[in-house]
Amino acid sequence: MKVAVFSTKSYDKDYLDKANKNKRHELVYFDSSLKEKTVRLAENFDAVCVFVNDSLTKEVIECIKSLNVKVIVLRCAGFNNVDIASACKNNIKVLRVPAYSPNAVAEHAVALILTLNRKTHKAYNRVREGNFNIERLTGFELSGKTVGVIGTGKIGSSFALIMRGFGCNVIAFDTYKNNDLINSGVRYCSLDELFKISDIISLHCPLTPETNRLINKPSLALTKKGVMIINTSRGKLIDTDAAIDALKEGQLGYLGIDVYEQEEKIFFKDLSEIIIPDEKISRLMSFPNVLVTAHQAYFTDNALNQIAKTTIQNLSDFENNTIKSQNQVCINVIKQ
Ligand code: NAI
Repeated sequence: MKVAVFSTKSYDKDYLDKANKNKRHELVYFDSSLKEKTVRLAENFDAVCVFVNDSLTKEVIECIKSLNVKVIVLRCAGFNNVDIASACKNNIKVLRVPAYSPNAVAEHAVALILTLNRKTHKAYNRVREGNFNIERLTGFELSGKTVGVIGTGKIGSSFALIMRGFGCNVIAFDTYKNNDLINSGVRYCSLDELFKISDIISLHCPLTPETNRLINKPSLALTKKGVMIINTSRGKLIDTDAAIDALKEGQLGYLGIDVYEQEEKIFFKDLSEIIIPDEKISRLMSFPNVLVTAHQAYFTDNALNQIAKTTIQNLSDFENNTIKSQNQVCINVIKQ
């Protein structure tokens, strides 16, 4: 199949070419993201292959339909950037990589916690400058702290178990309860209780209308003063203005984010030589107790291999009419 691969970085090309080494599919790489302005690039292709910040709105989907594109292949698990209803209506299949390496994201969430808490990023810079002073690098011990996990699917479960290993008291909120987690000592509770008693809150639910801006002014008001919030899920789970206000008031003690509300304008780009076109991220980065990484939680060799393998397999399965139901988004959505 002829595939237009959008938002391509060097690593995407390396791993996809490796997974497609028999050259079954013709992959044509574009640096630009897929959006209304760039959609004509999909002309003469059977498939588009996209990532988290490509924008597949109703208009984009109608346009790719008119260009005769038959399938959208996501190189990720989340599909909140695709208008699924329009894709179904236009009979364009949407395939994704439902699971690649949950541990990659869970471990990155833990890395954000440890860095914010033990300030290893600051210690590294100090020592490099010959400053061996440890003042203001005080942290706290994780053992005995209460960690609230919102969303205990594949990533949230992996994260919860790691935090149990640190000796934390792990509580969780999800619309479904995972019995294996309960057996390993995790206690499910209401969202309000989780907000009220957690020392650290980590977000692992998808972005849906229900979870949009789950962290907002009222929920932040419920939290313990000085709470740490970690978001490796989707940027829009947090109302950034409310988070900035809570940081200024000291209500939010630490914020670690791998995702950001407006990330499509800035993440995955080198903006080091220009003025960052986003006031809010600049404000966030000015706080000493905020740590931002640019959507790299998934970014391990295992995960990249798995994403590329499943993406190429999804293309072949589409061609052979042997699509795996768990990889197809339309079917899942219709079933819900
Ligand atoms: P999953 O589908 O295995 O788990 C999601 C869990 O959230 C499910 O247990 C579901 O019941 C729960 N959930 C749904 N609505 C909820 C609600 N309103 N409140 C509480 N829980 C709710 O998904 P997985 O693989 O664990 O991924 C979670 C999220 O992580 C993805 O949706 C994606 O946004 C994000 N992600 C981020 C990556 C990164 O590099 N930063 C990479 C991969 C995923």
